[in-house]
Amino acid sequence: MEKGEGIVPESVESSGGASLAPILPHGGRLIDRVLPAGTRAEAEARARDLPQISLNARAASDLECLATGVFSPLRGFMNRADYERVVHEMRLKNGLLWTLPITISVDEDGAARLAEGQEAALLGSDGNLLGLLSVEEIFAYDKREEACLVYGTEDTRHPGVEYLLRRGELLVAGPVSLVRRPSVPGFEDYYAIPAETRRRIKERGWRTVVGFQTRNPIHRSHEYIQKCALELMDGLLIHPLVGRTKLDDVPSEVRMRCYRALVERYFPKERVMLSVFPGAMRYAGPREAVFHALVRKNYGCTHFIVGRDPAGVGGFYQPYAARELFMRIPRGDLDITPLFFDEAFFCRRCDGMASTKTCPHGESERVALSGTRVRELLRHGGSLPEEFSRPEVAAVLQEWALGL
Ligand code: ADX
Repeated sequence: MEKGEGIVPESVESSGGASLAPILPHGGRLIDRVLPAGTRAEAEARARDLPQISLNARAASDLECLATGVFSPLRGFMNRADYERVVHEMRLKNGLLWTLPITISVDEDGAARLAEGQEAALLGSDGNLLGLLSVEEIFAYDKREEACLVYGTEDTRHPGVEYLLRRGELLVAGPVSLVRRPSVPGFEDYYAIPAETRRRIKERGWRTVVGFQTRNPIHRSHEYIQKCALELMDGLLIHPLVGRTKLDDVPSEVRMRCYRALVERYFPKERVMLSVFPGAMRYAGPREAVFHALVRKNYGCTHFIVGRDPAGVGGFYQPYAARELFMRIPRGDLDITPLFFDEAFFCRRCDGMASTKTCPHGESERVALSGTRVRELLRHGGSLPEEFSRPEVAAVLQEWALGL
């Protein structure tokens, strides 16, 4: 039987009458700001005479996401009107839901070389041209206000706040175009822009697709909530973030080896897509969880998994604060449907995976490890319990930890 044959009738059954039409991208259409191959040489030549802005890893990843439709409907870095409304009200100027500012900063000297109405060349950390920016506006912003409203704290131990406070004092806004993708070596086979994941979803005949964002090595709680979701959906998009993360997070190439090991051995191939999300982590907790859902809608997901403390860091957010934020958003504004999960763990008494919603036993029966505890165990040559991590995944992590 050809791949994909026989999937459609089953999908109709399991999608519970979901609409035949694919979910619309946020704002109605996918943005494409990638310069066609034939025009790149001309853009490169033009860029030589333009003022330059050097992009760090996060900004380069934002540029890529803007140009490839991941951040649809955004076409470029935010102007003041969008920025202010996003920070204060989680909306773009036109009223569309959007929870995180997408901006690039410069210092006074950098700004002096730019002019509104003109172009600037966007360079990667290796000095290569990545894209062009049509400078629309240069404006000052209030970092403390952004810290409080977006991250909910001014504490510089928060990696998002620490990054924010180090940024330049001015923001440069305007539409971008991408000349060259910043390089993410190692992920070529798993790289798919939203137009491509949408094509694959259609090809597989999936009407309902649940997206899973992760920045951590995949453990059995992840697998459990993914499979619970998949019981009700046609397909699952495992979509690990491979853009910039904080330094003590497990590197993305190691995490990818873990995801591959798990998907190959524990998931039915025809129900799962593994692909990378080139975005950078902000650690903005609830706001970032909503943002992660919106961008997965652009990739074609109809549903999105929201578990315990998504996009959180170091106890800055309440475990279910993201859920509360999702519940306050009018359904039509989000369009993608969040699937909420309570904290999951292996319970010795249940003798299986469970969650605080389904298991009556106490904490002493649970095998649950925090990311910090996992790192500690690995660093000291310890092994990860089978109840916590599949052995194939544990082996990848142990091999990596040995090399540290
Ligand atoms: S995140 O920063 O990318 O959100 P992580 O990779 O740890 O972090 O989590 C991915 C998703 O799994 C999030 O939705 C998170 O809430 C959920 N999650 C992680 N661990 C658990 C757990 N033990 N129980 C329930 N949900 C979890």
